[in-house]
Amino acid sequence: MSIKKAFITGASSGIGLATVQHLVEKGWEVAATLRRPDAVPELQQQSGVRIYALDVCDSQQVKELVQQAWQDMGHIDVVINNAGYGAIGPFEAASEEAVARQMDTNYMGTVRVIQAFLPLLKAQKSGVIINLSSIAGRLGFPLYNIYNASKFAVEGLTESLYYELHPFNIAVRLVEPGPIKTEFNGRSKQEVVAPDHLGYEALTTKVLGFYDQMFQHAEEVDVVARTIYRAATRKGSRIRYPAGRNAQLLLLLNKLTPGAWLRRISRAILLP
Ligand SMILES: NC(=O)c1ccc[n+]([C@@H]2O[C@H](COP(=O)([O-])OP(=O)(O)OC[C@H]3O[C@@H](n4cnc5c(N)ncnc54)[C@H](OP(=O)(O)O)[C@@H]3O)[C@@H](O)[C@H]2O)c1
Repeated sequence: MSIKKAFITGASSGIGLATVQHLVEKGWEVAATLRRPDAVPELQQQSGVRIYALDVCDSQQVKELVQQAWQDMGHIDVVINNAGYGAIGPFEAASEEAVARQMDTNYMGTVRVIQAFLPLLKAQKSGVIINLSSIAGRLGFPLYNIYNASKFAVEGLTESLYYELHPFNIAVRLVEPGPIKTEFNGRSKQEVVAPDHLGYEALTTKVLGFYDQMFQHAEEVDVVARTIYRAATRKGSRIRYPAGRNAQLLLLLNKLTPGAWLRRISRAILLP
């Protein structure tokens, strides 16, 4: 059997880095892309890993890099769209630029990478595309408004592509983590701060406090790396792969209970 090969964005930390390490442990070769290739020295020494500079917001760089990586790797079986960050804060206070940047990274970044790979995967007559979504791609959470929108967009795109790409033997998958210990709620968090006169102070204090506590009990990153591996290797028509106990429980609850009921409970927990 030939060695499996993967391409991943946002490999500098968190889920991306853990996934590279997990795939290499499984004997895969990985094209690991990150904005600053020298940011993770241990990745440079890892055998089975080729490192590339890539900012998913740079269309030209995405097009050129995908061609380059394909040439270097010989072929690529699995494309993992992982790069992303979370904007958080009252929607009313979010600048147009902040909204555009969130969509440009989380949604358009995924769009650019998929479009660059499609001709290659079609010619190969096989491939798996895995898009990192979130429980926030299925459920709305206060203050995560534009992050929610970006992940709902990724979910809709992926579900539509399931049908379009099926005739070409290209599978699409969504991995949906709950809270995970990474830089997501740290260095990568982009906070939108609302001026006091808009009246969101009490809500912001309560909700951000709840999220900080929630992230203190977040699950370890390898739970997502293992789920990505499962999504990459399973056959069949399943699109969605919740990652971790918290995500599985919440999404099950969402499936089994009326939306209004879950919203009332969430409101009681989250709002002042
Ligand atoms: N952690 C969670 O609780 C959680 C839950 C659900 C979903 N997710 C999703 O999981 C994915 C990975 O996040 P994480 O938790 O591993 O957070 P992380 O540790 O902050 O990693 C985010 C990665 O995305 C990269 N990135 C951001 N903007 C980029 C751009 N324009 N071009 C290329 N790379 C870019 C970052 O690179 P730099 O180092 O250059 O900033 C970093 O490598 C994201 O899509 C996130 O939405 C996370």
